[in-house]
Amino acid sequence: MEVTKKYMEFEGIRVPGGVHSVESLTWAWKEFEVRDDDVFNVTYPKSGTTWLQEILSLIYSNGDPTPVKTQYSWDRVPWIEQYSGRRQIENRPSPRLITTHLPIHIFPQSYYKSKAKIIYTVRNPKDVCVSLYHFSLVAQFMESREDFQDFITLFLSNDVMFGRWFEHVKGWLTIKDNPNFLLLSYDSMVKDLRSSVAKICKFLGKDLSDAAIDSVVEHSSFKAMKDNNMSNYSAVPNDIFNKQHGTFHRKGISGDHKNYFTPAQEEEFNEIYKECMKDIDLAFI
Ligand code: A3P
Repeated sequence: MEVTKKYMEFEGIRVPGGVHSVESLTWAWKEFEVRDDDVFNVTYPKSGTTWLQEILSLIYSNGDPTPVKTQYSWDRVPWIEQYSGRRQIENRPSPRLITTHLPIHIFPQSYYKSKAKIIYTVRNPKDVCVSLYHFSLVAQFMESREDFQDFITLFLSNDVMFGRWFEHVKGWLTIKDNPNFLLLSYDSMVKDLRSSVAKICKFLGKDLSDAAIDSVVEHSSFKAMKDNNMSNYSAVPNDIFNKQHGTFHRKGISGDHKNYFTPAQEEEFNEIYKECMKDIDLAFI
């Protein structure tokens, strides 16, 4: 991977240039053939992507932790839009577990002719902003800002990677009534992981025993994942993830924005949220 902070533009959004190309994005959008039993883990960055990669891997192994302990998360549930996506996904046996941060307007077109399932995980945008702020200091392929106010300004602009949170979420919620679409909340998962895992199993038609569900919950806890070298990104070289600036598994809590936003910053953010999300039924402020 070329480590560059340069972003590329594609269909109105900006994405890190090192792992994406026009070819990889176009393939994902226009050429990839979705199968009926594909399962998509869709998120805006820092909303629980890696967590879902772990949970899905564990559900499909019936709670057996061997895959999550022996294979990297990005190989188990790869990103479709990245350079390596085609090689990793195209000929993989079913059921394929696939990750993406793509906004809906450039999601694989063949999905709409399929019965594939989508799990979209949404997180409080103020916590996403805090998490992304820290991550951008670690991830050397991201545009960062030292000053948190400057980062909020970037986060609220179209320059942020994968486009603005508001448009990403609103776009995906347009298909929320599709029976093959499950809306999950990171914040509910933090409160009650077992219920969320049971909900995911039901949605996927996976009938796991209580003991298997317990195992999924145990091995996808924040502590278990932070300690799992296959999911905590410790294997990524320092020139890509600068570990002196932090770890991938940072806090894993709901409401951390209260420790970063000043009252004035929060008020301003809430106003923008109300304006952008006025027709949407999501209570994050
Ligand atoms: P924080 O930076 O707030 O700690 P993504 O995988 O989409 O990049 O999201 C990363 C965020 O999810 C980070 O948030 C990370 O700590 C959190 N996370 C990862 N695994 C988790 C888990 N098992 N439980 C709770 N949070 C988790």
